[in-house]
Parts: sequence; C-alpha cells; structure tokens
Amino acid sequence: MTARIIIDCDPGVDDALAILLAAGAPEVDVAAITTVAGNQTLAKVTENARRIAAAAGLDVPIAAGCDRPLVREQVLAGEIHGETGLGDVRWPEPVRALDSRHAVDLIIDEVMAHPGEITLVPIGPLTNIAMAVRTEPAIVQAAAGVVLMGGSYTRGNTTPAAEFNIFADPEAAAAVFSAGWTVTMGGLDLPRQVTVTADLIARVRQLDVPAARLVLDTMAFYNSAIRQLGRGADTSGTIDIDTGAGAGPVTAGSLHDPAAVAYVIDPGMFVTRDAIVEVETAGEGTYGMTVTDFDLRGRPANAVVPTRIDAGAFYDRLVTAIAALPG
Ligand code: BDR
Ligand code: CA
Repeated sequence: MTARIIIDCDPGVDDALAILLAAGAPEVDVAAITTVAGNQTLAKVTENARRIAAAAGLDVPIAAGCDRPLVREQVLAGEIHGETGLGDVRWPEPVRALDSRHAVDLIIDEVMAHPGEITLVPIGPLTNIAMAVRTEPAIVQAAAGVVLMGGSYTRGNTTPAAEFNIFADPEAAAAVFSAGWTVTMGGLDLPRQVTVTADLIARVRQLDVPAARLVLDTMAFYNSAIRQLGRGADTSGTIDIDTGAGAGPVTAGSLHDPAAVAYVIDPGMFVTRDAIVEVETAGEGTYGMTVTDFDLRGRPANAVVPTRIDAGAFYDRLVTAIAALPG
C-alpha cells in the first residue's frame, strides 16, 4: 500500500535528501510539503523546499509555516547547513508558486479531508505540528500516523541531552508527544547507523540523472561541514545502547531525515521498541531532552522508537529512489 505523507521540513541538507528519497520511492505519495524555521530562517527553508521540489519533479502544494518556536528564543543550524540552508549547492529555480495557506491550515485541511490516510513526517522542529494539534485536535485521530526525525534515547547533538529538532522548540515537541497519538520517534540513535559513506557516494556517482549531481554535491558539503565541526558537532548515536558501536569521532554526515522517510517506505527495515517519551521543558542542562522509558511501568506507550536499521536495505532504497527521479 502506498503511504500518503506530508513532509514538514526545514531544508536543510539532509531534509533535501529525505525529500528526494520520498519523491523517488514508489511506496510513498507526497501529498504536500510544509516548512518551518529550523536549520535556517523560514524564508530560506521555504525557498529551499520549492527548489528541492523542482529538482524532484514534485508538483505538490508547498506552504510556509511558523517562523519561530512557540516559547524559546530561536536557534538555527547554519554551522552545519550553511548560510542558505543548502550548503554551497545550487538547486534549480522553484517552479510552483507557494500555497497561499499557512502550513498549519494546510496540514489540518489535508488530514481532515482524508481521515486515516495521511501520515505526518516532521523532519524539522515541531512548531507547525503542535500548532495544528492545538488548532484542530481532531487531527490526532484523523492522521494515519506521525513519523518524525527528532530526539534520542541516549544523548543529544545540540546539547549533551538534546537533539536539534527538539531543542529548537521543546514546548512544541512536548505538545506533540503528549497529544494522544503514537509518535514514531526516529531519533539520533538511528541515523548514526546510516551515514554518507564512500560506498554510497560511489553508487550515486554511477547514476545518470540530473538529481544525482545535486545529491553528490550535497553529500560532499555535508561531510565537510561535519568534519570541520569535529567531535561534538554531530554525536548522533556515538553511544548506541543496542550495538555498543560507534564511540569515536564523527567523520560522515548522519542521514537523519532520510531515515525517517525510510521508515514510512518500509518499516520492515527497522527494529523498534515501544516506549514512553516525555520532552523535558523545565531542566536547564536537559532542556529539550526526550526522556525515553522502555520499561513502560504499567503505563501505555506513546511512542514507537526505531533502534536498529538494516543499513544495506536503506542504502539500496536511497540509491534506487535517486535513480528514479526525473531526468
Ligand atoms: C536534525 O536537525 C537538523 O539539523 C537536521 O536536518 C535533522 O532534521 C538532526 O538533529
Ligand atoms: Ca531537518
């Protein structure tokens, strides 16, 4: 069955790869793209989303959303994603005009018009999703699911405790995790298992589609940004409680956002555990931490947490999807 999704994003180099993956995957039908301030300002990420959609041949509504977090002061991530949000890569000019609706309204319209059909795939801060839940609480029942990139059950990448998408708007994340639906939390622990490897680069280099050049340039920028920042820039899953693998400097960009899209494409590639996830909004050092309880302690789970990914299957899907993009 094809999964119909709304990608709520802040492109963002790995957001770009995630959108291309979704566009090229036959298992996924992208209903719309919505944008939220995160890796860069709202104006920049919205322009980027329109450019990426053009490259991907995605003729779908694109709507701009919230330009700042609900409560906290804004944090951006230009040190990884560059001044434009897409590094030094020149993407094609946008084709489709921006949707006139606010992203929050578009999300509500789509979910309520197609009950049980739309899976929300937030791969940026959760401001738009929290606003949508507050504005129309019925989306909690009407959405087919929420599969997000954010959080971690071990440690953070923006602070020792917090992952960027959650840290950028912890109050919104708290509202989303406590809304009453089951959130699939594709956290940092996962994408450390799927990074921009030399093998992946070599395979994309073989592809004869224009998007392959953009992917190669994006991956090169991403790896170089991660290396320049060095250890601490992106410590995604350097402590992996399942595999015990990965203690050491990070030398390649983790494919965070593509991993979340991959879950929608084929959940069979993942090992998951049920959990209760609560977002810390009061602690100083732990602000934005996704406190994850796998023991449940008699309480119902509010989250499914992928802990392992079949990296080989993931890379195959990614390469196949890029190869399927319009020439
Ligand atoms: C997440 O933060 C952003 O910088 C990436 O695009 C990804 O969504 C990883 O922490
Ligand atoms: Ca992102």
